[in-house]
Amino acid sequence: MTPPTLRTEFCDRVGIEYPVILAGMGPVAGTGSPTACPELVAAVSNAGGLGVLGGVGYSPETLRSEIRKIRSLTEKPFGVDLLLAAHFLAPRGQQSRPSTPTPDKLPKEYVEAVERIAEELGLELKQAPPAPDGVGQWLEPGKSWAGSQIEILLEEEVPVFASGLGSPAPFADALKANGTTILSLVGNVRGALQVASAGADYVVAQGTEAGGHTGRIGTLALLPQVMEAVDPTPVIAAGGVSSGRALAGVIATGAVAGWCGTAFLVSEEANQPDLQKQRILEANAEDTVVTRLYSGKTMRNISNPLIEAWEREGLMALPMGAQATLIRDLEHSAREAGRQELLMNAAGQTSGMLKTRRPAAEILNEMVSEAAEILAIELTKRVTVSV
Ligand SMILES: Cc1cc2nc3c(=O)[nH]c(=O)nc-3n(C[C@H](O)[C@H](O)[C@H](O)COP(=O)(O)O)c2cc1C
Repeated sequence: MTPPTLRTEFCDRVGIEYPVILAGMGPVAGTGSPTACPELVAAVSNAGGLGVLGGVGYSPETLRSEIRKIRSLTEKPFGVDLLLAAHFLAPRGQQSRPSTPTPDKLPKEYVEAVERIAEELGLELKQAPPAPDGVGQWLEPGKSWAGSQIEILLEEEVPVFASGLGSPAPFADALKANGTTILSLVGNVRGALQVASAGADYVVAQGTEAGGHTGRIGTLALLPQVMEAVDPTPVIAAGGVSSGRALAGVIATGAVAGWCGTAFLVSEEANQPDLQKQRILEANAEDTVVTRLYSGKTMRNISNPLIEAWEREGLMALPMGAQATLIRDLEHSAREAGRQELLMNAAGQTSGMLKTRRPAAEILNEMVSEAAEILAIELTKRVTVSV
């Protein structure tokens, strides 16, 4: 069978076959390394999409070796995703080593809440060991490694850079001069206008359906508003794009590609513990919730008793960094006790439609074939249209 054709200008710009991008999913699954790992990145790029590494948690030197690992697995274009939240940024090129806020600085009522939650869940609270190289340490204000990580992207001539949070402005000129295409994720129109004027080549409009950090506006409501606001900057759709139907829908709406996270969480190559993949496969569309428990920012996860207990406490989350420090012992204790059901499991609302664990290439091929079939054949049969 001849492979389908499904091309947009994004494919021509970055040199890929299909307008499907693996979202740069970082180290949130408790494994210490990103879900969108080099093996998954290479698998998606080799299949004709664009693999994007979840680079945020890596020290600059580890990032370099992971980029080289990707290059050893594929000759195709790929990208790297980092977080550029303004108040976490160190100046460009600064090699400051991040560290997390210490537990003794945490407010007493929050520490007491954690103790109550542990008791309620039957967990013996144990002190977590210091985080290994980079892991979880990108969260402290002023101490992000992003400036130094960007230097690595420049030196390694990475084809695509995706900024998951914040403005690419401080780095846009250098990246463009180096031939790197810049993608910027946003969850509302205000953010879209900011990143478009800050030099993003493509704005990624991410709807609330998305797994991981997410906003409040649904993809179908957000996408046309962002397109209108940033025109002529092209827009990529994220949040809920886990099927050929959704891919066809966002392309018909005007997006030049789909940025897909949840679909690939259950791929063979995703760096996710088996149990977490299984929970996603078993989840239905209503099993995810948005919580600030894990990072202080709104994050969509498969719900669990720890999230429920935290929400019952009714506390405002602490800022990013401090919140992660607050719950480190809780998470460590759950892991030590083998209470997998209490661990973070970021995933989107499309978890409800994922039923099998498969190689990433199969997931991508099915998505592309289905979208092509809908756009080229099904629509002409189902819809009568004229202008
Ligand atoms: C496990 C997980 C980790 C994520 N980590 C990051 C990250 O480090 N940087 C980022 O820009 N987005 C991250 N995201 C969000 C994705 O980039 C993407 O926007 C989202 O998954 C798209 O929606 P979908 O899950 O419905 O496909 C993450 C999402 C998940 C599910």
